[in-house]
Amino acid sequence: MPEGLKEAMQAARSRTLGLVAHLSDEEFERPAAAFFGPLVWDLGHIAAYEDLWLNHRLAGRPLRRPELAELYDAFETPRAVRGEATLLKGPALMDYLEAVRADSSTVALGDGALHELVLRHELQHNETMLQAMAVMGRLPETCGTPAARATPLELASVDGADVVIGAGDDCFAYDNERPQHVRRVDGFRIARRLSSNREWVAWADAGGYQSPHHWSGAGWQWRSENGIDDHAGARTGDPDTAVTHVSYFEAEAFAAASSARLPSEFEWESAAQANVLEGIGDAWEWTSSPFTGYPGFRAHPYREYSEVFFGDAYRVLRGWSCVTADRIRCTTFRNWDLPQRRHLFAGVRLAGDA
Ligand SMILES: [Fe+2]
Repeated sequence: MPEGLKEAMQAARSRTLGLVAHLSDEEFERPAAAFFGPLVWDLGHIAAYEDLWLNHRLAGRPLRRPELAELYDAFETPRAVRGEATLLKGPALMDYLEAVRADSSTVALGDGALHELVLRHELQHNETMLQAMAVMGRLPETCGTPAARATPLELASVDGADVVIGAGDDCFAYDNERPQHVRRVDGFRIARRLSSNREWVAWADAGGYQSPHHWSGAGWQWRSENGIDDHAGARTGDPDTAVTHVSYFEAEAFAAASSARLPSEFEWESAAQANVLEGIGDAWEWTSSPFTGYPGFRAHPYREYSEVFFGDAYRVLRGWSCVTADRIRCTTFRNWDLPQRRHLFAGVRLAGDA
């Protein structure tokens, strides 16, 4: 039986509540921006997910609040409508979280896989909550920041090799990290550290946002339609820390203007294994790879975790960010998002051909 899982779930709950402790009721209950739902939705969703997977599906008990199932389902109640919904808040929200946890604390762990799933789900929502708080300018003081790295930007060479990609069967992993398989990765070069705020500002000052030359067609259209002509955070951040909150479109243009490109996710995983990447965890790293299933992919435990997102629309991000919880930091983990998204704690690591 896995050791310490229930204690880790309690620690995660303390983290969750600690992250929102400094917010006013108004900040907690209203969406940070049109794109985000209110933070109270995330907490209700965390409880509903735990109730569904541990109390209902694993232990076979009825849902504690079946009338809330649709409201707190991420697909049934997408972000755009969460701000208009009648959500639990105040003591009613805390009561729901505590009641579900009291129930789940009596559910036998079994092999621990579903408890681990629920635990990691809560920690992942911590990061989406922090994304909203970053947009509000209300990150908690305890929140991590990327380390300053004043070293010149150097590209390391990685030889071509047959590389073991993905997670083995000996640890927890999501379905999209499996099956583990061998993939030929040709030789390439990759930056030892992420690009910095200083380098980003230099690109912007050189007209990076004004000339379509280095942008993809879709990226330039996004830039133009949304009036994206600078990156305020890069100007106010420490010049020597990794630039964050950049979209894939911007990262791609910045890389092209630097006579480089983004790494594929397989190059990234190969470089992580070769130990040439400094600053993994300063920020998520956009890769050029679309989000697809590995050969022989099987959805587990449900299609909506990964499979419904497969295709050309999403891009994979690798690594983790400075606000990602320790437990979910893993070099085989695959994050994904749309190329226009700017709210992630995501930056850019340059790559090039050998
Ligand atoms: Fe979720």
